[in-house]
Amino acid sequence: MFFYDIETERLFLKNISMDDREFIFRQFSDDVVNRYLFDTEPLTDVEGADEIIGFYIQPEPRLQHRWIIVRKADGIKMGTCGFHCWNHEEGKVEIGYDLKEEFWGNGYMQEAMKEVITFAIKNMSIKEINACIFIDNKRSSHLVENLGFVLSGSRYELFRCKEYLHNIYSLKLTYLA
Ligand SMILES: CC(C)(COP(=O)(O)OP(=O)(O)OC[C@H]1O[C@@H](n2cnc3c(N)ncnc32)[C@H](O)[C@@H]1OP(=O)(O)O)[C@@H](O)C(=O)NCCC(=O)NCCS
Repeated sequence: MFFYDIETERLFLKNISMDDREFIFRQFSDDVVNRYLFDTEPLTDVEGADEIIGFYIQPEPRLQHRWIIVRKADGIKMGTCGFHCWNHEEGKVEIGYDLKEEFWGNGYMQEAMKEVITFAIKNMSIKEINACIFIDNKRSSHLVENLGFVLSGSRYELFRCKEYLHNIYSLKLTYLA
């Protein structure tokens, strides 16, 4: 298996599976979690969760992956994180992440993403990791800046016939060598 489960000090990053459908439904029907996610409508039924999971468990090799973020202390599922749009030729990939609001402010996502970035460096021959963040999503921008990403551009994303300005933050891994 190319994408494997990861353990950090306080977290398990567990490969997403069909066992997570109830959690994925709750997570992506939550208005707070979805507030700045302008790529899909909030879920209204559990079949929508099956579609999301199906996308992330397509047979390898695939261009995307998602881990469920589980708190070690009590086994609670707190959110998800992972990759999409992996461009093998250019050595680029995009990251995505989400936590339920009750778990914000504890450094959990920073802890998870450090290991996800380490995974990309070790296993994916990645030169550049990008995050596409809606301009008002301050917590998300703060997170990637803390991880060493720098603002590298911006673009509009079209959603429900409206354009939303997103900043692109990049981590150029050659700079870290
Ligand atoms: C983006 C998102 C994951 C950020 O969550 P977050 O809680 O701010 O990020 P972290 O888990 O890394 O926590 C960092 C915070 O914990 C604090 N913290 C507390 N204990 C900490 C510890 N042991 N280590 C590090 N930071 C700690 C930090 O000071 C920081 O707080 P601050 O922002 O007030 O300074 C969250 O807002 C979210 O899920 N949003 C909805 C989905 C979304 O928008 N996803 C991104 C789309 S681009």
